[in-house]
Amino acid sequence: MASSTLICETQPWKDLKSHVEDIKKTHLRELLSDTDRCKSMMVDFDGITLDYSRQRATPGTMDKLYNLAETAHLKEKINRMFNGERINSTENRSVLHVALRAPRDAVMQSDGKNVVPDVWNVLDKIKDFSERVRNGSWVGATGKALTDVISVGIGGSFLGPLFVHTALQTDPEASKCATGRQLRFLANVDPIDVARNIAGLKPETTLVLVVSKTFTTAETMLNARTLRAWISKELGPSAVAKHMVAISTNLTLVEKFGIDPNNAFAFWDWVGGRYSVCSAVGVLPLSIQYGFTVVEKYVDKKFLFFYSRFLKGASSIDQHFYSTPFEKNLPVLLGILSVWNVSFFGYPASAILPYSQALEKFAPHIQQVSMESNGKGVSIDGKPLPFETGEIDFGEPGTNGQHSFYQLIHQGRVVPCDFIGIVKSQQPVYLEGEVVNNHDELMSNFFAQPDALAYGKTPEELLKENVLQHLVPHKTFSGNRPSLSLLLPSLDAYKIGQLLAIYEHRVAVQGFIWGINSFDQWGVELGKSLATQVRKQLHASRVKGESAEGFNFSTTTMLTKYLKESFDVPANPPTILPRI
Ligand code: F6P
Repeated sequence: MASSTLICETQPWKDLKSHVEDIKKTHLRELLSDTDRCKSMMVDFDGITLDYSRQRATPGTMDKLYNLAETAHLKEKINRMFNGERINSTENRSVLHVALRAPRDAVMQSDGKNVVPDVWNVLDKIKDFSERVRNGSWVGATGKALTDVISVGIGGSFLGPLFVHTALQTDPEASKCATGRQLRFLANVDPIDVARNIAGLKPETTLVLVVSKTFTTAETMLNARTLRAWISKELGPSAVAKHMVAISTNLTLVEKFGIDPNNAFAFWDWVGGRYSVCSAVGVLPLSIQYGFTVVEKYVDKKFLFFYSRFLKGASSIDQHFYSTPFEKNLPVLLGILSVWNVSFFGYPASAILPYSQALEKFAPHIQQVSMESNGKGVSIDGKPLPFETGEIDFGEPGTNGQHSFYQLIHQGRVVPCDFIGIVKSQQPVYLEGEVVNNHDELMSNFFAQPDALAYGKTPEELLKENVLQHLVPHKTFSGNRPSLSLLLPSLDAYKIGQLLAIYEHRVAVQGFIWGINSFDQWGVELGKSLATQVRKQLHASRVKGESAEGFNFSTTTMLTKYLKESFDVPANPPTILPRI
């Protein structure tokens, strides 16, 4: 395939377009009755089992999808990513988040330079700093230990760390390591989020991490200035040095902000924001909360006990992704099946349904990783695409989702689902006299839902059950709704790292096949620049009484109403912080 040819112009794409019409004639009930087919659709890696037998696909479909992947040069593109080539061409950057979890002695090049030693310099600095905060040798301005951390950041500087934190919180070993500590995340520029974050905390025992790749993101910088004011007001401006540190690629702006560059933790432009959880963005807050050894992967005698951890888990999937044939490669399988569902069946959405409350923040994180990466309208060469890319990702833990949006996915729209189950609960509960223990109750749903979606229920079955005739249409389930299931043996830091990397690479596979740039995000810029214009107007209206100008009728009307009804907002107010 020539580099300028769109994937939809190739023969394998056209083959799949006609093949999908055949598959549409087959119900999942029939596909699931073929045991050999089902056997061929179960894949194991490192204790994780993927079952994709409830996809509307046959082994023949898979062969056609592998052909498509080959035509899209998937393997070459994966290699180019791992080789540090500048595959993010619109920003002229390498895409090397895999280097963030590479072993200390690995070699991964960007621009001819091995970046792994830089990664490990920062990891060593994080280890040292987090241990000093945790053991009380780094103290606040009044000499008190810093027991609470607020991590200020948004998007990729927030969602990944929040997901991992939420997942570790109930892990018995991690929670023991976090005793007496709090970690909070301030993301939204809404002052209510400030109020929620500082509620119950005291500046003298709080450390603020300002997390921003660019150090220019409007929301993060205003929140950072707000918390700087909160600290200064109580402890004086000199306290900032002890109570605020930064994580950024822009150390010049960090210094300008007033944070000592020695208290800054670097990362690099070859780490995309939404792929940055394994950089200082995630590792610093998580190390302070849980101890460095819970999140890092380094194995030495001293830390033998902590052998299999978060970064090591992610790294194990990187190796698997890089070296495993497509037929057994978890991220590749997930990626090509998504392309099959989006581009050939035309299903626009995808649900991520973890049967684990610890994975509560997984779907919101993957939502950004996937939708910011693959929601594109042009090919990597800038050609308009005659097909849709990306998918609408959403999700909730089971069983909560079942009582919310599952009605729609059972009888309304078709939404391919990823069910994620865990064999051993982080927090088992057994009640004497109950039919099953609490985790088994949860998992009964994990096993039942995919079959309900796939098989459905026919009018004949309902009539046999003596369902009243007029209710039969309402109680009929068409079935034939695709899903896949991932079963993980447990949910410790290592498995959390694996899950993260599986989905990061799944998104890369989709983008590589669609022929788009999954690593830029120009689509977020327009709204940001229009907000700058509105911000200027609000300032001019508040301070000089100027009326709204230069906007269309609709925006002018709404802005005018907003200004009129908030006339009591002071023009030049003193610093006022939430009191909650
Ligand atoms: O939403 C756009 C975006 O640039 C994301 O890609 C990024 O994760 C987020 O803003 C935050 O950016 P930064 O880390 O530079 O503050």
